[in-house]
Amino acid sequence: MAFADPVDSEAGRDIFFKHCKACHGNKGDGKTFAANVLNPPPKKFTSEKSKQQLTEKRMIRSVTEGRKGTAMMPWESRLTTQEIQAVVDYIRRKLMNSPQ
Ligand code: HEC
Repeated sequence: MAFADPVDSEAGRDIFFKHCKACHGNKGDGKTFAANVLNPPPKKFTSEKSKQQLTEKRMIRSVTEGRKGTAMMPWESRLTTQEIQAVVDYIRRKLMNSPQ
């Protein structure tokens, strides 16, 4: 019962470090080399604005379909629905809620 949670935060962390941190940064604060050359820059998950703006539903959609006209590409062909859920869950739980 205690393990019924379908979202595996370890998996989410692995995915984040493998595929997302180059642009979004270890802590999700968007302070990366890539951020200097990208316009618009990668989302800073740690900002108050992002916390208000980014609902779980929106994040899942953005990761699945990408953000048109930005470096944020669609991941649906590379990650499963569960993996996308796991990485979004990781960002929300570990990066967006952590104190600055
Ligand atoms: C090549 C750089 C790059 C990589 C790699 C990348 N992102 Fe992004 N990401 C961006 C940029 C740039 C934006 C800002 C898009 C915008 O302003 O609309 C963004 C925005 C986002 C957003 C917010 C979208 C919204 O609705 O505003 C989420 C969530 C996100 N990324 C998650 C991820 C996840 C999860 C991964 C790894 C699977 C990832 N990103 C990998 C560049 C990247």
